[in-house]
Amino acid sequence: MINSKLPKIWYGGDYNPEQWEPEVWTEDERMFKLAGIDVATINVFSWALNQPSEHEYSFEWLDEQMDRLYASGTYVCLATSTGAHPAWMARQYPEVRRVDKQGLKRQFGGRHNSCPNSPAYRRFSTAIAGRLAERYKDHPALLIWHVSNEYGGMCYCENCAAEFRVWLKERYGTLDALNKAWNTRFWGHTFYDWEEIVPASDLSEEWGHNLTNFQGISLDYRRFMSESILDCYKLEYDAIKQHTPDIPVTTNLMGFYPELNYFEWAKYMDVVSWDNYPSLDTPVSFTAMTHDLMRGLKSGQPFMLMEQTPSQQNWQPYNSLKRPGVMRLWSYQAVARGADTVMFFQLRRSVGACEKYHGAVIEHAGHEHTRVFRESAELGRELQQLGDALLDSRSRAKVGIVYDWENRWATDLTSGPTVALDYVKEVHKFYHALFDLNIQTDMIGVEEDFSKYDLVIAPVMYMVKSGFADKVERFVEAGGTFVTTFFSGIVNENDIVTLGGYPGELRKVLGIWAEEIDALFPDQHNEIVMKGEWGGLSGGYECGLMCDLIHSEGAEVLAEYGKDFYQGMPVLTRNTFGKGKAYYVASSPDAGFMKEFLANLCQEQGIKPLLATPEGVETAERYKDGRSFLFVLNHNAEACQLDLGGSRYKELLGDTVLEGSAAVPGRGVLILEQQAD
Ligand code: GLA
Ligand code: ZN
Repeated sequence: MINSKLPKIWYGGDYNPEQWEPEVWTEDERMFKLAGIDVATINVFSWALNQPSEHEYSFEWLDEQMDRLYASGTYVCLATSTGAHPAWMARQYPEVRRVDKQGLKRQFGGRHNSCPNSPAYRRFSTAIAGRLAERYKDHPALLIWHVSNEYGGMCYCENCAAEFRVWLKERYGTLDALNKAWNTRFWGHTFYDWEEIVPASDLSEEWGHNLTNFQGISLDYRRFMSESILDCYKLEYDAIKQHTPDIPVTTNLMGFYPELNYFEWAKYMDVVSWDNYPSLDTPVSFTAMTHDLMRGLKSGQPFMLMEQTPSQQNWQPYNSLKRPGVMRLWSYQAVARGADTVMFFQLRRSVGACEKYHGAVIEHAGHEHTRVFRESAELGRELQQLGDALLDSRSRAKVGIVYDWENRWATDLTSGPTVALDYVKEVHKFYHALFDLNIQTDMIGVEEDFSKYDLVIAPVMYMVKSGFADKVERFVEAGGTFVTTFFSGIVNENDIVTLGGYPGELRKVLGIWAEEIDALFPDQHNEIVMKGEWGGLSGGYECGLMCDLIHSEGAEVLAEYGKDFYQGMPVLTRNTFGKGKAYYVASSPDAGFMKEFLANLCQEQGIKPLLATPEGVETAERYKDGRSFLFVLNHNAEACQLDLGGSRYKELLGDTVLEGSAAVPGRGVLILEQQAD
């Protein structure tokens, strides 16, 4: 449980009482009660209020809010306010302001933009976090700490450059090692002094988005930035823990946000939390995959849905309203995939500046007679009714899909073979097929223990870090099934090619050699022609994007290319290795192939779908203490009938027992607890 003070799914969100007059607070209290809201995230952007000048702190306003909220039955997720530095700090300590990728020194303005290597920023942010912890350590309202807000971005200032050199010295020890690791004899880049090294920016090796001359330098700059920003979080974390060792600490992440290596971050978070802002046209399977990734950051530990909008965003090009029922449906989607909280940005719609058109539980009308409020209050009631039934329950997935941030950086930065390669998209293709098949899947990091899974899929494992190939070999040897694809095993962690033939270190376990890699134009395709009968795959599939031209070195050829000069070369292979099997998919296949291929693999492994559902109806399972909770989420506007097979279920939201079949309303949700026969 995140905090046993509140043993239910927490319900609430970001709340900015400092932007309002006291009369409004009384109204807020009344409406929070009506909506079943029991947690407010406060103090997110109040650094300027808390610290009017360098030597002056003023927390009285916050004391009042903490006391008032607690008295009215609302707990607090307490932020440290360091997501936006005060104007006085920006003026007196110019070093807190970042230098952007084009070399421009930023002025005061915006947020989430303090230089992570500014000694002043680190000193001030650590100090205020410590002071807050000291002040509120015994406050009964305090549930959890929320450090800063949505960390991210990059800085290219002199402090960052100097720290980058220190970081490089630690990583490589000598300039010789660094020159070798980056392959600096290319284009005459040999470094003779650490001071010659500068950040990878638009003034040096990079230009535009993800384009670089030197992948090694650019990769290391991303690693360094992710770690620098993480260090800021860690400093606040430690300052807080000195006073409140038992109160959990988190910071809100952003799903597939590219620039921070969240698997590294999660090691220092007591609980993962994240902000979910899908657009009307985001595939629901993509949102599901993102929740699963956030759950995977801490090996399946439940996470917090820290923010979502009850109705609309303001920052998307077209800020559609969530259709009636959709806020509830997407809230349960988060819970189904491991969230133990449902929280919003924001509780009350602000009156001015750029988020005044961002949805909130309390709209500008200011009263409870709105669609959004009614839907929020309805969900609040349900979450109270669910009590602690679902808390701490886990996934029992037998399939894991590997996702790796550094591999993403490397595939984004690599020059060639095609601009169209999108690692996340390729990962999603696999996820989407499993999602459609109702196969519970975990999103896992390269460091995860593979032995929990029967099937591990690592799409486009371009960068193979040291130890990874061994780990795959041990997994397959012991009986596991491993799948990887085209453009895998090509480089090490510095983007240096593993010589001797692709897929490098993965060659042995896969039993193949990829001699060449073809890049296809968007309208160009090849064919996947099945060889003989394998699991009823019918053939007639297409593939594209990239085609590896492979030779079997012991692997069985299950399918061949149907066209072009490499017609007849293998496109799908299976290698028996120890007690297990390793598959190679040499091109990016169409959805039809994906679905049949994965259905077949799962069937061979005895991995069963959770339920059979009509199209557009999602399922996911949470499990604890021998109790299985199946979520059924109808993403269609129309009602449908669900076949429950031979099992009997208790439906937690309606408190009825269901057998045979069940009706699911349009955009409706069922939470089914399997009953003993
Ligand atoms: C982010 C931030 C919030 C708010 C919302 C708006 O998630 O954390 O402060 O700006 O976006 O969608
Ligand atoms: Zn900087």
